[in-house]
Amino acid sequence: MSKPETPWKVPLADVKLEPEELVAVTAVLQSGWLSMGPKTEEFEGRFAEYLGVKHCFAVANGTAALHLAVEALGLEAGDEVLCPALTFVATANAILYTGARPVFVDINGPHDLNLSVDDAAGKITERTRAVMVVHYGGYPCNMDGVRALAARHDLKIIEDCAHAPGAVYHSAQGVRMAGAMGDVGCFSFFANKNMTTGEGGMVATNDQQLADQIRTRRSHGMTTLTWHRHRGHSFSYDVVARGYNYRLDEMRAALGLVQLARLPQRNSRRGRLVRAYQEKLRSLGGIELPFLGSPPGGAYHLFPIILKDGDRAAFMQMLAQKGIQTSIHYPPVHTFSYYRRQWPPDFDHRLPRTEDAASRLVTLPLFPEMTAAQQELVVESVREFFGA
Ligand SMILES: Cc1ncc(COP(=O)(O)O)c(C=O)c1O
Repeated sequence: MSKPETPWKVPLADVKLEPEELVAVTAVLQSGWLSMGPKTEEFEGRFAEYLGVKHCFAVANGTAALHLAVEALGLEAGDEVLCPALTFVATANAILYTGARPVFVDINGPHDLNLSVDDAAGKITERTRAVMVVHYGGYPCNMDGVRALAARHDLKIIEDCAHAPGAVYHSAQGVRMAGAMGDVGCFSFFANKNMTTGEGGMVATNDQQLADQIRTRRSHGMTTLTWHRHRGHSFSYDVVARGYNYRLDEMRAALGLVQLARLPQRNSRRGRLVRAYQEKLRSLGGIELPFLGSPPGGAYHLFPIILKDGDRAAFMQMLAQKGIQTSIHYPPVHTFSYYRRQWPPDFDHRLPRTEDAASRLVTLPLFPEMTAAQQELVVESVREFFGA
């Protein structure tokens, strides 16, 4: 079966699966055991080893990973959680699921679209319990700053690593993996991510108590799994917490194992494409390039640019006419009508730097198999729009 037709010569993102994935999934189908079991355990073990953490739990998607993280931390109504608004809505939704309130923090500016530690510090109240950071586009946040702030105010740290599997951060304590620097790290394996299982996610932690909570709540709060009972390890179970069905299945775990093995090489390829984009576009007067000069080791999930002038809709339209797909990451969460209704009318929830960047942001195509010719078409089209 071939890929569905699209109008794009250069899509925003692309998935390339090799025969190895087909072999791995077929082997699972032939094994006759499809729901969470040995492949999932193997995937979790490899992911934990890769991050250098004690516990990893594979889950149905990245949103489920975030939900389990905030539940395991015991967040509840009346609590406040700091998080960026320049993110996918799932980040903030996961906080709302617990009854806690997301308190949106501004970004550093067009040069660095990650959360500002200074702005976060100014928004701490006696109800603040945690900070949920997002490593935007695969570029790690200022985690030294976040960790110092969290330590001063006794806050838990959740890392939303949906964009950042394999990203490394050059911290004061040495090089650390994204997802291993807070209390809980959460990953998404959605189809447009750096590694994919179609739908899927992972929760990572070094904390035994959190691990126990996450393990139990992932599967209905039950004390044993079907897989354990199948092997005769137990005959019954208790339900000890409010849980969910957030399990991954064996087909996806098999896909994840193959994808994880390829991740470092694919992230490097993304990094090379980002550097090529930066070289070719940095002198262009009409745009700013976020994360220019960021240290090596990002996961390079997105390549955002910020228009200095020019009509964004016309820019995106012109690229679309040339067969180039673009997007906006993201319409800020605090501007959505559902979220606006969460605050009293006189509440000041403006985020000037987020709103400014979001109004001028455009994401250009980036995926490991992007050819030199595809990248050249994007670069030439951008230059043409700005008359360069
Ligand atoms: C920053 C961020 N957080 C969370 C998610 C949610 O992940 P999923 O789609 O796997 O539920 C995404 C996915 O798009 C994301 O980009």
